[in-house]
Amino acid sequence: MTSTSFEHGAQLADQVASATGADPGDRLLHTRGVWAAGEFTPSANAASMSAAEVFAEAGTPATVRFSSTLGGPGGHDGDPSDHGMAVRIGGLDLVMFTLPVFFARTGADMVEFLRAANSPDPSSAVPAFVARHPEAAAALGLAQQARPAAGFTGLAYHSVHAFGLVDAASTTRWARLGWRPHRPFEPLAPEEARSRPSDYLGTGLPGELPAHFDLVAHLPAARDDVHDPTRLWSSEQTVTLGILTLDRAEAPDVEPGFDPLRLPEGVAAPLDRLASDRSAAYAAARRRRG
Ligand code: HEM
Repeated sequence: MTSTSFEHGAQLADQVASATGADPGDRLLHTRGVWAAGEFTPSANAASMSAAEVFAEAGTPATVRFSSTLGGPGGHDGDPSDHGMAVRIGGLDLVMFTLPVFFARTGADMVEFLRAANSPDPSSAVPAFVARHPEAAAALGLAQQARPAAGFTGLAYHSVHAFGLVDAASTTRWARLGWRPHRPFEPLAPEEARSRPSDYLGTGLPGELPAHFDLVAHLPAARDDVHDPTRLWSSEQTVTLGILTLDRAEAPDVEPGFDPLRLPEGVAAPLDRLASDRSAAYAAARRRRG
């Protein structure tokens, strides 16, 4: 990390902390979470898409943290919200969430959104943010339609960024990555979700295991705006890169410091600004937590 990105990350983390009022010892966002472990096995054609080691070998150990975004430690899992899934498989970190696109293109815009959402009057501050940032409308519209989930393992998770899949001949194909659950999505009625304990998604995880997710590469059409994380794509073409099997609700001895730019050879970093801003902010947020 350069000293500029170090300082930039520290500034972003400070701004996120002051917008959300997070406790210094907690994650600044996605505070409530639960760990799982298992392994990843690539599909037969994954190695032809990317030369990364994780796509060449069966049974790479996987460490996963599922999380809920809203409400900090005292939030309720049944409140309509997005959820996160951070995965470490070998040299690859995939830090995804349940919306297919994001509502900001940069860390600065993300902070501006958090300030609006946590202001005394979010019902006028958030629409005012969207008026200044029309690119936020797609993600925020989808977020409003979110329904409470019955469990973490029936949700699809999305990378939002396009990553470069680099094959053995050094050809790069840009793709958004995503986890597709084998378990069908089971929405809960809001009153049913609210009647459950506030951490029901986390405490329910052991009962959902084993659980399986396909890792898919979502390929853009020629007219899609590949490197803008706020834009939906017209293409629905996907290639399955492998399967993740989670069989234990087990915390790692040492928490991985998830970093969306911790990528092996064979996976190129996104070209959008959001990814580098996130990476710097996560490192700084971990330093703050100690
Ligand atoms: C510039 C935009 C973003 C900023 C500034 C940001 C900031 C943060 C921060 C500060 C944390 C807490 C880190 C910690 O305390 O350890 C966090 C966690 C997280 N973020 Fe973001 N984030 C951004 C965009 C995104 C996007 C686009 C996604 C999904 C595609 C995402 C998914 C997550 C997840 C899943 C976690 C929890 C990671 C874990 O379980 O350890 N974030 N984010």
